[in-house]
Amino acid sequence: MNETILITGANGQLGTVLTSALQERFGRERVIVTDIRPPQREFSGRFEQLDVTDAEGLTQMVRENKVTQIYHLAAILSATGEAAPLRTWEINMTALLNVLEAARLEGVDKVFYPSSIAVFGPSAPAADVPNDCHLDPVTVYGISKAAGENWAQYYFNRYGLDVRSLRYPGVIGHQSQPGGGTTDYAVDIYHAAVKNVPFSCFLDKDEQLPMIFMDDAIRATLKIMDAPKVAIRIRTSYNLAGLSFCPADVAASIQRQAPGFTVDYNPDHRQAIAAGWPDSIDDSAARTDWGWEPEFNLERMTEEMLSALKIKQSGQIAA
Ligand code: SER
Repeated sequence: MNETILITGANGQLGTVLTSALQERFGRERVIVTDIRPPQREFSGRFEQLDVTDAEGLTQMVRENKVTQIYHLAAILSATGEAAPLRTWEINMTALLNVLEAARLEGVDKVFYPSSIAVFGPSAPAADVPNDCHLDPVTVYGISKAAGENWAQYYFNRYGLDVRSLRYPGVIGHQSQPGGGTTDYAVDIYHAAVKNVPFSCFLDKDEQLPMIFMDDAIRATLKIMDAPKVAIRIRTSYNLAGLSFCPADVAASIQRQAPGFTVDYNPDHRQAIAAGWPDSIDDSAARTDWGWEPEFNLERMTEEMLSALKIKQSGQIAA
């Protein structure tokens, strides 16, 4: 069957890379790439400007294009969200409910909904947090993701809508910039290293968090969406783990390859958010149910990040 894919929030950190992966898999003409803003850089494919809080606009787009799968990535993240809690709630929830309703009404086959480690709070153990841990999120972003997971399950139970979800850790990639998250330092630090400038870290040096390399995050997303429907036993969201490290670990791994690189630590309001999140999460349900396995450890990720960013930088200098 010919799939028609719609992706929201496609200009974001994950959306940028997922768009290319989906275009490669399904063909450019079959992927409707949407965001509230026009693409920042050169883009080839089908781009449509879409505010996903506009239910009618979204539903019409889904109907007219006979969309079969939606990847709903548009959201306001943890750090930015705290500046305007009610607005963040309003936008994140309205957008999700619009997507679920459009999918239900228009007979969409599958929906992907990203959740986050931000759903965990003080009652989670520090390490190896189980999938079925009690959720007591402390940010409005986390509250919206925890509620969203339950809505995903509700639509599955009540309407049979095949919604699949991952709790992403911090995502680290060289292709795109994160925006407004608490884990963003782990991308920024590599950019500083290739520019050869000292890095000021907004988290404490020993603040360990679950993280994942972009390639693994994309692979997991495609894998859960490819899995047979019966394999998806968890209809809220699956814990997804890649690796876990603190700023001092990533600094040391960069310094092994760039010995002159220096980091100092100036924790800001984001440190309190990070402190409320676990050090690591247990993703054995994802491994058992649909065969998840990460490929990148810290050393390998650092090699890839530094070499890809160096190539990008030399291209920019040459241009
Ligand atoms: N990377 C996200 C954030 O920091 C976590 O989902 O907000």
